[in-house]
Amino acid sequence: MAATAANPADTLAHLSQNPLMPSRRPVTLHRLREMYAAGEKITMLTCYDALFARVLDEAGVDVLLVGDSLGMVLNGHPTTLSVSMEEMVYHTGSVARGNRTAWLIADMPFGSYQESTDLCMRNAVKLMQAGAQMVKLEGGGWTVPLVRRLVDSGIPVCAHLGFTPQSVHALGGYRVQGRNEASAELLAADAKDLAEAGAALLVLEMVPSATARSLTEALPIPVIGIGAGAGCSGQVLVLHDMLGLKAGEPLRFVRNFMEGAGGIEQAVRQYVADVRAGRFPDEKLHGF
Ligand code: KIV
Repeated sequence: MAATAANPADTLAHLSQNPLMPSRRPVTLHRLREMYAAGEKITMLTCYDALFARVLDEAGVDVLLVGDSLGMVLNGHPTTLSVSMEEMVYHTGSVARGNRTAWLIADMPFGSYQESTDLCMRNAVKLMQAGAQMVKLEGGGWTVPLVRRLVDSGIPVCAHLGFTPQSVHALGGYRVQGRNEASAELLAADAKDLAEAGAALLVLEMVPSATARSLTEALPIPVIGIGAGAGCSGQVLVLHDMLGLKAGEPLRFVRNFMEGAGGIEQAVRQYVADVRAGRFPDEKLHGF
């Protein structure tokens, strides 16, 4: 009689020849810098639970992002604004337990760092204690002292510029940023200041491809694009979007990797292969 997978451990058993032995060395910040220096594209996906963490890690995704997009994707909120620190700590812990070798970033949710450097530090510590290896916070200019304090305290930081979802109301909705010369210059200046403050990675969201490319070329740290064209140092997508699980119209910058794939693991492997080979994103289809 054919065996049926009864629990998550059985479901995952096929992923590694020896379940006790990870199939690659852990991805470290040093390794990400090596990849960047060698011109190798960095692959990132959002991840919110232990089971997917294991699948994405085994499929070779370099970086897992416990994004505050979980408030929209998992909990049905219209924006990321209502996500709490408790939720981020809970999901970061789950992902950390499923992950073995990918680099793990956790988002600092809205309200967890805006008020003061001390509050930012305290909340970043909670995410690191839950298993994050780096924290991500949105915005430029006013975030520079926060980044400096975190980095000085030994907490690696990923900055996030362009469309910053926690500022959705201030930005007038889900809009491409850096479209004109003045805003593109501001974006580049903010990015430079954040890198100088010690940010080790930058996520750049919904920015015209040409602007993203020149910003990436000018910056001494890897830029991970989402809706920012093919000229970035790597790519990130929301996992559920690239698995075609989004209700309604697909976003312009997303490809459904489940199309033509035999299953989730294969779709994720395809994403990794296509980003590494420069086949995703396709400037004509996915760029602004
Ligand atoms: O929260 C998130 O998923 C993100 C990505 C869109 C980069 O910040």
